[in-house]
Formats: sequence, C-alpha cells, structure tokens
Amino acid sequence: MIKPHGSDKLNPLFVSDETKRKKLITEAESLPSIVISSAAAANAVMLGSGYFNPLTGYMNAADALSTAEKMHTTGGLFFPVPILNMVHDTAAISGAKRIALRDPNVDGNPVLAIQDVEAIEEITAEQKELITKQVFGTLDSEHPGVVTFNALGNFLVSGPISVLNLSYFETDFPGTFRTAYRIREEIAAAGWEKVVAFQTRNPMHRAHEELCKMAKEAVDADGILIHMLLGKLKKGDIPADVRDASIRKMVEIYFPANTVLITGYGFDMLYAGPKEAALHAVFRQNCGCTHLIVGRDHAGVGSYYGPFDAQAIFEKDVPDDALEIEIFKADHTAYSKKLNKVVMMSRVENHGKEDFVFLSGTKVREMLTAGEPLPPEFARPEVAEILGKHYRSQA
Ligand code: ADX
Repeated sequence: MIKPHGSDKLNPLFVSDETKRKKLITEAESLPSIVISSAAAANAVMLGSGYFNPLTGYMNAADALSTAEKMHTTGGLFFPVPILNMVHDTAAISGAKRIALRDPNVDGNPVLAIQDVEAIEEITAEQKELITKQVFGTLDSEHPGVVTFNALGNFLVSGPISVLNLSYFETDFPGTFRTAYRIREEIAAAGWEKVVAFQTRNPMHRAHEELCKMAKEAVDADGILIHMLLGKLKKGDIPADVRDASIRKMVEIYFPANTVLITGYGFDMLYAGPKEAALHAVFRQNCGCTHLIVGRDHAGVGSYYGPFDAQAIFEKDVPDDALEIEIFKADHTAYSKKLNKVVMMSRVENHGKEDFVFLSGTKVREMLTAGEPLPPEFARPEVAEILGKHYRSQA
C-alpha cells in the first residue's frame, strides 16, 4: 500500500491503548486547561486520526510562517498549510508545561487532547496577515476562511499532543466517520491497490458521480473512496447528515457493488482552494489512496481562485518528490444535451456553450432553496428527493 506522508508507518496521535488513555483522562482533569477553537479541535481530530501524519502536534510560529510561505516546515517537511492551536487568552495556561485542550463543540467541553507546551508565542499583525495571504490567497474579510482565521486569536500554543477522543464525529456519524488508519485497514481488507479519493463537501450530483466513474476508469483503479467533510461549513452549505444520506442512496443505486467506500473525516472547511487541495492530497495519501480527484474550483468559494488553480499548484508549487499520491485532474464537467450524458467539456467535439447544462453545486443549491425540482441532468431523482425533503423542512 502507498506509504503515509513523511514516514514509513502511520502514527496517529489518538491514544489507542485503553489503559493509557484512561490514565491520561484522569490526569487531564488536574491539568490547567483551555477551551480551544473549533479549528484547533478539528486539527486535533485530524492529528488523532492519522490524517496529518507525520506531524506530532501543533506548529510553532517559525514553522507556521515557513509552512505558509514555502509549504514546508523549518525542518523541510512538506506541509501545505500551518496546523495551529491559536488562542486569544493564555492566562489559564500561563507557565504550564502540560495542558488539557477542551472541546468547544461538545456539551460540557470535555478534554479532547493533552498538549505538552513547547512555546506560547504571540504573532504580530504583519505575521498573521502574511499567513492569511499565503494560505487563502486573499485578505478579504468576506472570505469565510479568512473570517474564521482572523477570529482565532494571536497566541500560538505549540507542541506535541496526545488525543483522547475524536470529538463529536464518532457519535454523530458512526457509519461514515473514519480515521486514516481505519481506511487503510478497509482498503487492505478489500484487496484494493489503486484507490481514487473523491473529496466532497456537497451532496453528489450527476457531475460528481460521473467524475468518480471517469477517474476510476482512467487510472484503472480497484475502488473509489468517497471522503466527505463532516466538520463545519459556511452558512448555506448542506448539512453532513443530508449529504451523507444522498451519497449513500446514489452509490447504492448507481455504482457497482463493492467498488466504493463511503467515508468522512472530521475537519472544518478552510475554503483555501489550491492550498487546501494540497492538504487534501496529503491526507488522502495518509489514508492509503493512490489518486485524488481535483476538478474545477476544488475547495474554492466565490471567485477567489481561478477554476483550475487547485490543479496548477501541483505543477507549480508542490515539489515533485513531496508526495506519492497522484492527482487526477478533471476538466469542467457538464451534461451534454447532444450526447445525453455528463462529459468533460473539453473532450467532446462540435459542442457550443448552449449544448451543455452546467451542473455546479451552487446552482443546485439555488434551485433547491427556491423549491424547484431538480432536473435529472442535475441530480439523480432519488438524490433530488432527499435534498428536496431537507429544503422543505427548512422552509
Ligand atoms: S469541494 O470544496 O469539496 O472541492 P465539491 O464537493 O463541490 O467541493 O467538489 C468535489 C470535487 O469535484 C472537487 O474536486 C471539485 O473540483 C470537483 N467538481 C465539482 N463539480 C465539478 C464540475 N462541474 N466539473 C469538474 N469538477 C467538478
């Protein structure tokens, strides 16, 4: 199986030994503690799950700046975005060497992880701006990722962590949430060698479905890993349980049996376009996938990124030897009225713009919000029914 990023063996930071974990849970109750941000909690879940292998915890200021600017840590490890625990107020943990990190997303703020504090550093406004600009490509305060990042505080608490649970993801999405190590086990059990990962934060409509099928065929893969984001999204995006139900229905009816793993990961969406695509590649390699589909406006929002910037970063900025996973670059995909099927637009002849029905997620959302039925070119009827029900229940 493909090696994890940066090490021969995956090193998830979740403490799987129950005796050790129980001891740490007891210890945590007597440690100075702090309720961390949702972004830092999501990082802990990703570190705990093995997705951010080989990192051992949160980065310090030097690594954060190096990673933001050059996509590698000061030690030379390729990493596309800084993985940080940023806080507003350090009074509760001042001088402490070992602290408990409390979960902001679970009632009662239980301890999510224990951190050995290596440093607490305040970053300047200029440094924060530099990180923002490098990660998101913009400082625009309307950009949802920038808004979230700017609200995190200015103190970086760095150092290794031991993760004690995986937040709300296991309880809220028991059939779908997976750690990277569990996905590796499932891929091995299926006997798959080539696996195409499909990143998504949407219910899958026809374009998504066809992209998966085209990619599987093109790279001659044994299976597809549908890997949906289960963490926080911006307002207006479709909740994870609805996306999950519609994806399950689509796979059940329209994919051959035993060719798809339907899974999810516990991370909040960054909307960082190209940089997030590179992060996606890191963590798909960590969960054992050999290919990642990157299509139009991958991990984008609004018009902050060019439609294929997230593909270009792999050619321009990701060093050739940084990752083993390969990128399946998908052209703009749309329904052809002439051919009566979803196609990659650049691959068909004798087509004008008017011959395509565009199938963007945004357009689907608009129609559903307006209570209009989705045409079959947009979504499978069974998927449209689940989405329609969701939107009607919101009305
Ligand atoms: S994302 O933010 O998770 O990337 P989304 O779930 O909409 O958003 O997209 C999942 C994947 O499908 C991404 O790789 C995206 O680029 C690709 N994609 C979605 N729609 C199209 C399309 N019409 N043409 C080409 N690629 C697409």
